[in-house]
Amino acid sequence: MMREVLYEGKSKVVCAGEDRDSLIIRYKDTATAFNGVKQAELFGKGKLNAAISNLIYEHLQENGIKTHLIKVIDDTTSLVKKAEIIMVEVIVRNVAAGSFSKKYGIPEGTLLKNVSVEFSVKSDELGDPMINISQITAIGICTAHELTEMIEQSLRINELLCELFKKAGIRLIDFKLEFGRDLSETSDRGKIILCDEISPDSCRLWDMKSGKKLDKDRFRRDMGGVLDSYRDVLQRLTEINNN
Ligand code: TMP
Repeated sequence: MMREVLYEGKSKVVCAGEDRDSLIIRYKDTATAFNGVKQAELFGKGKLNAAISNLIYEHLQENGIKTHLIKVIDDTTSLVKKAEIIMVEVIVRNVAAGSFSKKYGIPEGTLLKNVSVEFSVKSDELGDPMINISQITAIGICTAHELTEMIEQSLRINELLCELFKKAGIRLIDFKLEFGRDLSETSDRGKIILCDEISPDSCRLWDMKSGKKLDKDRFRRDMGGVLDSYRDVLQRLTEINNN
């Protein structure tokens, strides 16, 4: 059934949901990097990311994390709670890589002495600039209370995901999260919930034994085998899920 498209992002489309409290998100095959400068269609990526993200979301929900996921509709679409997205990206790092390594001159693969949590403004126009916690509240992106809640949830999600990926023989290097305020007309209204996807597009995932990259760095860095790696991640997560 064709639904009204409310918003089209780089890797997902958001459509009207089943009622005023829900939305439908559809995962696209488009891969982008460097703020959309690099772009390609990777046939089947949408399905793989949807399946991986849904598996991860279900695991997080079972462990008490409040998320936007209501139900999986089909291979590429999910029904989610309507939320007001908080316009910061939360980046959690266990191991130095990517922009962190570049910015601070720390070699990729260096284990961090503590989990690092950083923020960037969710704005393609501004190029997602890094922002600190006092700047976030100063410009009113969210309240100090919401910020504390997002940090606590992000650290708990990191624990749950490190453990999950470890079972799959994968090292969780870093990842990006987005949160929103629940907009449903229920007692949950205003509560902070986890939104957006968690997939190899938004995480760095390295094979524990070989160190092989199994994430979007394969696309960013023209390493080839992008979808084979995403498929490998899905297969491993499915296997541990079935055991
Ligand atoms: P970074 O090292 O490039 O800052 O990326 C940190 C993590 O955040 C990495 O797992 C990839 C993810 N990420 C996104 O999901 N979206 C983005 O726009 C960026 C820049 C990174």
